[in-house]
Amino acid sequence: MKYMVKSKILATFCAGLLTVSTGIQAAERLATGTQQKQAQKTVIETSPWFDDKDLTLTGVYYYPEHWDESQWERDFKKMHELGFEFTHFAEFAWAQLEPEEGRYDFAWLDRAVALAAKYDLKVIMCTSTATPPVWMSRKYPEILLKNEDGTILDHGARQHASFASPLYRELSYKMIEKLAQHYGNDSRIIGWQLDNEPAVQFDYNLKAELAFRDFLRAKYNNDIQLLNNAWGTAFWSEAYSSFDEITLPKRVQMFMNHHQILDYRRFAASQTNDFLNEQCLLIKKYAKNQWVTTNYIPNYDEGHIGGSPSLDFQSYTRYMVYGDNEGIGRRGYRVGNPLRIAWANDFFRPIQGTYGVMELQPGQVNWGSINPQPLPGAVRLWMWSVFAGGSDFICTYRYRQPLYGTEQYHYGIVGTDGVTVTPGGREYETFIKEIRELRKHSSSRETKPADYLARRTAILFNHENSWSIERQKQNRTWDTFAHIEKYYRTLKSFGAPVDFISEAKNLSDYPVVIAPTYQLADKELVDKWITYVKNGGNLILTCRTAQKDRYGRLPEAPFGSMITPLTGNEMNFYDLLLPENPGTVVMDGKEYIWNTWGEILNPPADAQVWATYKNEFYEGSPAVTFRKLGKGTITYVGVDSHNGALEKDILKKLYVQLNIPVMDLPYGVTMEYRNGLGIVLNYSDQPYTFNLSKGAKALIGTTEIPTAGVFVFSVK
Ligand code: GAL
Repeated sequence: MKYMVKSKILATFCAGLLTVSTGIQAAERLATGTQQKQAQKTVIETSPWFDDKDLTLTGVYYYPEHWDESQWERDFKKMHELGFEFTHFAEFAWAQLEPEEGRYDFAWLDRAVALAAKYDLKVIMCTSTATPPVWMSRKYPEILLKNEDGTILDHGARQHASFASPLYRELSYKMIEKLAQHYGNDSRIIGWQLDNEPAVQFDYNLKAELAFRDFLRAKYNNDIQLLNNAWGTAFWSEAYSSFDEITLPKRVQMFMNHHQILDYRRFAASQTNDFLNEQCLLIKKYAKNQWVTTNYIPNYDEGHIGGSPSLDFQSYTRYMVYGDNEGIGRRGYRVGNPLRIAWANDFFRPIQGTYGVMELQPGQVNWGSINPQPLPGAVRLWMWSVFAGGSDFICTYRYRQPLYGTEQYHYGIVGTDGVTVTPGGREYETFIKEIRELRKHSSSRETKPADYLARRTAILFNHENSWSIERQKQNRTWDTFAHIEKYYRTLKSFGAPVDFISEAKNLSDYPVVIAPTYQLADKELVDKWITYVKNGGNLILTCRTAQKDRYGRLPEAPFGSMITPLTGNEMNFYDLLLPENPGTVVMDGKEYIWNTWGEILNPPADAQVWATYKNEFYEGSPAVTFRKLGKGTITYVGVDSHNGALEKDILKKLYVQLNIPVMDLPYGVTMEYRNGLGIVLNYSDQPYTFNLSKGAKALIGTTEIPTAGVFVFSVK
């Protein structure tokens, strides 16, 4: 069955399973009902892009322009024999596609596409805007990106052109239009990747400055007083009398107006998003049955991911082993951070209901600080991690190890001789075989057990909060992402499906929503939260939430009072402690350490106090409160603990109250469901024994899962 990559599905899907209501009653019903044990099926609409029966497609990058043409056929044949189903062309080939301005040469690419097709390999076509040819940089130097310190980037590397340059965009669009005309109606091309890892550029070109002024004129209705008010320019004589006086903020200046920086970051993200969106629309003029995506680095702080509305879905690139130990145990640096792929899955998938992974390393990389060999099995573990999150395809960077250029030490599926399959290449081969076998056993995408769905939780996320908080951390040891991760990590130990969602999504699709340290807010958002809770939702808000408006200004009201209608709390004050002399919070007799941020709360009579401060002059004062409101609940966590133990125990306590069944997986072990399959992954340094319930059938691996091991079972 095919399925639709639209968020609408989620609403229909959850409504069916959770019977719309998201509150305590719904959770109670689920906990007591026998249906908990059974897998649930839902009807999913048809997708124009992927066939659910394929589970996932697997592909690999190839750069025909790097190799002697006489070797292409041998390489495609081998790719096919290893099981790959698609390849990926022309990502950095602008110089070959347009060797002189206006002279295009697609003949070589046509030959590569034809040979790939001979070996059943579909093609992802790329727009190569990350590598403009030298004629462009020499003839039109204004297209080059300028750093904040005045350095102008130059030809000889990549990603040196400015997205804010109208001329660069025009030259890009001319080339892309030719490419789209040529390949848009070609059934051998499955889809398009725009640019390469498009990031937000902090570009200090004159053109960027002019575009920033236009952005501000539009935002502030051409009224400089509105801008002065929003940016608080009465402070330090910063007032402007005209938009023409405004320059790009010097981020290096420690005391630069942070309201201005907030707008600048919004503007910078919009430049990347507009460029991608325009590329996409251009391709869609010609593309027949081809999807368009791009391959973002999962950088949550830049705020551009998901911001080009025309893209069909979002894809990401992920590298797991390259430097210091983010994993578990002595060999953890060979396996990687256990939540690195999970986090990316849970961030990308909710944007449009599906996602793909464009790059995953097949072995050692060249650019890290250590570049170790992955632990045998780790490459396969990563592929299964991507799959577990619900992706439609996995592509690896790259087929052959390059013999020249910046990435000489980068592993491929085959080594420097072009034919010997690397250990990582063999792991790809194994994964592909396993997927082919599973295609015989799987059911539709959304076949997932009811107890798994019952703990479905959303984390409300807006990158603007970290932009704002990180400029005014107030305590050097505060870390916005580490704070959010404390909640995320707990949810993953619960075996909960987690969606990172934006405010545009429907909160009522989730029994529990966490909005961690959501600093920038307005009445509309608070009203949305109130409605969600009153209708039965369970909301968790954490410290620093709703303290400022969307311009980053403090409202003229008691500090932190925007959410008082929800929590009922007043905030007496907040405190920040020395990291070497932290404080203690007590909950149910257990103590937890904190120092980065603590709010001293004054709760209403109808709230329960869950945790209090144990020291300082406010000993005994509330730090965490819980309250019923309408049909739902609101938990307020006014403190950030050192290691996340408090956050974990708060969520445990809450889910017990809500009768939401949770697991207790050790850190390093994750578990997800899709297509009627349970997937258990072990990133830890110890074997993990999984308790397989009766009726479930082991399909891949055994219940004794070694480090870097995978266990897949059928829940039908
Ligand atoms: C990625 C990039 C690829 C390649 C790869 C090497 O970040 O998108 O083009 O450079 O790194 O690991």
